[in-house]
Amino acid sequence: MGVLPKAHEKAEVVRTMFDRIAPSYDRMNRIITLGLDQRWRRSLIAKLEVSNGDTVLDLACGTGDFAVVAQNRGARVIALDFAGAMLLAAQERCPASITLTRGDALALPLASESISVAVSGFALRNFVAISPVLEELGRVLRQGGRLGLLEVDSPQSSMLRLGHGFYFRKVVPVLGALLSDGRAYRYLPASTDYLPSDQELEEMLESAGFKSIEKQRHLGGVAQSITAVRA
Ligand SMILES: C[S@@+](CC[C@H](N)C(=O)[O-])C[C@H]1O[C@@H](n2cnc3c(N)ncnc32)[C@H](O)[C@@H]1O
Repeated sequence: MGVLPKAHEKAEVVRTMFDRIAPSYDRMNRIITLGLDQRWRRSLIAKLEVSNGDTVLDLACGTGDFAVVAQNRGARVIALDFAGAMLLAAQERCPASITLTRGDALALPLASESISVAVSGFALRNFVAISPVLEELGRVLRQGGRLGLLEVDSPQSSMLRLGHGFYFRKVVPVLGALLSDGRAYRYLPASTDYLPSDQELEEMLESAGFKSIEKQRHLGGVAQSITAVRA
């Protein structure tokens, strides 16, 4: 098998991979992003104006980073992931008031229009298909509900893109092999290839029922935050 699994095997490969790397996932995230991932999460939650009136879904929550940030702002939080070991790691660090749920982003176990905010960090490129997930989010968010997606991105400046490409595709796999799991940290940078272009993502969001779509670049474009409102 190459680094990127085919569509029919992707869900299983991704789930078992995250189960494997769960114990070292947080440490690797902080190392790879030099700790900036948490700043990007806090800034996205602030931009979405999450407050104590909100019910927030942290979709593909992993170890629950977004869930904790949202809960710190007083929101009621539901955090969902399909990898059991990631949820176990989340359970160890999340306050008991956060509802942790095992489930699939493609068939959310939530009632229609039952949440006011949905966030998802570094997960888009791990889904088997992005449009059906956005449609599920469009279903469970109530009208006027806010969506925030945090993902990796490719810098616009060619110099930065070159440097970042070397770091992300050459250095990160070595760090991963030394500190976690070589195969997983070859997959994670390569999985950027699954991401749609800005225009494709905007079209997917619009057809899933979202408006007011905005993109914010972080650190010259190594990461991006997308926000949108459920129409
Ligand atoms: C890169 S991790 C991101 C974790 C966390 N959101 C963060 O910001 O660090 C991607 C997560 O997506 C989850 N995932 C991938 N596909 C999923 C699906 N179809 N349903 C639920 N979770 C999924 C994986 O299990 C993994 O925990």
